[in-house]
Amino acid sequence: MEYQDLLVEVHDKVALIRLNRPKAMNALNDNMMNELGDAFAKFDKDPAIHVIVLTGSEKAFAAGADIAAMKDYTYQDTYRDNYIGRNWEHILKVRKPVIGAVAGFTLGGGCELAMMCDFLIAADSAKFGQPEIKVGVTPGAGGTQRLPRTIGKSKAMDMLLTTRMIDAAEAERIGLVSRVVPAASLIEEVLKIAQGIAQMPVSVAMQIKDCVNRAFETTLSEGVNYERRLFHAGFGTPAQREGMYAFLEKRTPNFEGL
Ligand code: CAA
Repeated sequence: MEYQDLLVEVHDKVALIRLNRPKAMNALNDNMMNELGDAFAKFDKDPAIHVIVLTGSEKAFAAGADIAAMKDYTYQDTYRDNYIGRNWEHILKVRKPVIGAVAGFTLGGGCELAMMCDFLIAADSAKFGQPEIKVGVTPGAGGTQRLPRTIGKSKAMDMLLTTRMIDAAEAERIGLVSRVVPAASLIEEVLKIAQGIAQMPVSVAMQIKDCVNRAFETTLSEGVNYERRLFHAGFGTPAQREGMYAFLEKRTPNFEGL
């Protein structure tokens, strides 16, 4: 897979996608978002891939939507051509786990894209912010919705209205990221985490992702009901048999192909 604004690598069962517009701090433009949608779709379909990692560079995961590209847009252009909706949200259709590995500036649309990953591991250099108000617009890729759900109203309002950047330690404290690791070992650490998940039965990993995402779209009792149906449906599957028998036989389970 050859792209202009992305670099892709495969490490065993893990695909690594790097946003790659170094001259523009990985600002997110149409071409990059089209390519990202293409890469996600291909890896999601590929049975050899169990987990996808999305990362940027040491300097920037992404410093937002490309301001140069959108500076002269009109309402008609953006509405008619479905700006953002047309190509930013392919990541939400990915059924396999997607881990965001973030370092450096993770701002505006970059922070919003990061929040569309299933979970985030941050380098200690990461800085998160929603500075859209400074360029005269509201966030447009879910920042006003995912931030308060993730870090609460007060912190979200603070970031969105003051444009204050938060560092990795604060991001971990408030639950925006799950772990912080030294910048120099970010990719190594995230690949280790991804390889661990890749050893689990991929079908169950996909079901867990599906259930967790359901929590944001439905009531608690409906969400638990959905989870219970999938839990019941798991009995008698090869993954359940292998996992439980391996535990009782005191051996490592082999979930290959499950
Ligand atoms: N769009 C386009 N180009 C960008 C960019 C962006 N979002 N962010 C950085 N760049 C470009 C700069 O224009 C600059 O290009 P040139 O070398 O050609 O001048 C290059 O990247 C390097 O940037 P700086 O010289 O500014 O680097 P710095 O280290 O001094 O500052 C920064 C880094 C704090 C990230 C600063 O670049 C910045 O504030 N960027 C804009 C952040 C922003 O406002 N993001 C929100 C965009 S709107 C949005 O995302 C809408 C949405 O919700 C979907």
